[in-house]
Amino acid sequence: MIDWPLVGARFVHLTALMILAGSSLFALLIAGGVPPRRWLIPAAAAAALSAVGWLFAVAAAMSDRSLAAVDAATLRLVLGATAFGHVWKVQLALAGATLAVAAWRGGRGCSVLVFALAAALLTGVAAVGHAGMAGGSTGLLHIGNDAVHLLAAAVWLGGLVPLAALLYRASSGNGSPPATLHAIERFSTMAIAAVAVVLLTGTANLQWLLNSAAGIASDWGRVLAIKLGLVAGLLVLAAINRLILLPRLHSAASAAREGAAVALYRTVLFEQMVAVMVLTAASLLGTLPPPVAAASPPRAFQQVVGGAVGSPQEAEIPMPVAV
Ligand code: HEM
Repeated sequence: MIDWPLVGARFVHLTALMILAGSSLFALLIAGGVPPRRWLIPAAAAAALSAVGWLFAVAAAMSDRSLAAVDAATLRLVLGATAFGHVWKVQLALAGATLAVAAWRGGRGCSVLVFALAAALLTGVAAVGHAGMAGGSTGLLHIGNDAVHLLAAAVWLGGLVPLAALLYRASSGNGSPPATLHAIERFSTMAIAAVAVVLLTGTANLQWLLNSAAGIASDWGRVLAIKLGLVAGLLVLAAINRLILLPRLHSAASAAREGAAVALYRTVLFEQMVAVMVLTAASLLGTLPPPVAAASPPRAFQQVVGGAVGSPQEAEIPMPVAV
């Protein structure tokens, strides 16, 4: 059975962290360092709230209760006596710190801190996911790989938010054309590097979690296939931007340049919609047992549970479902 509250909390948390990491790096490397506070504050608030929501969803699943029935004693038990809880205490503190920093009217320093905090929060997400399943140094290696996967995806997809704002200004005739062109070209180069890292680390994840080709017939495999189809769509859109629309921005005629900026703006908005679908699929994926766990139950699954939320013995409360 799908744990929708957990999927929802994962989706909001991941999306908010991607916006925080991607747009603060965009500010640092492309837009002169000033953080885009207009969406940094809502994203940081969403990250903090969804971290709390994630905790409630895990506590509800562990205690086999509805969300509304989760009480303070269960929350204390989950935070104090499970592997998930140990990571999540840090996650909650970091999410609170990110909100405080995002609200601070700092310049470059604010962007640097938000990026560092968002990267640490994405590592926290990796630590409570399937990557921690193997335990020991192998588990740490998988967590490191997963954290890099998430950060590279954030650089690419999170950066689309400030890129769209830049293109919106350019398409309405505002902003300096050479500066806009330079910024878009720099982002495009950064995104190509990020895509390469996403593909490499995603393939490593696949290698570890899909034990055989037959595993693709599982629910996990089907959701992964949907996610990869959507990623392929994103790559096609990115190629259209880079190879067809971007060169048109070099046109000498300002009407042609504005037309290209409008077209680019629309494709970037479309890319954002597909990115939301990719993140939905990824949020669901992390809650389904991967084939490598299903192949050798119950020990491997117990490890998934240990990596994701802590074992029932550890928490001394029933563990009814995969979280
Ligand atoms: C835009 C591109 C992508 C995004 C935004 C993305 C995002 C994510 C996210 C959010 C997770 C969950 C991590 C966690 O909860 O610990 C994940 C896991 C994963 N990704 Fe990706 N990913 C992308 C591309 C890819 C590609 C191209 C592949 C394969 C080549 C891939 C393979 C995987 C695998 C196997 C997992 C592990 C799922 C699990 O923990 O059960 N991803 N990805």
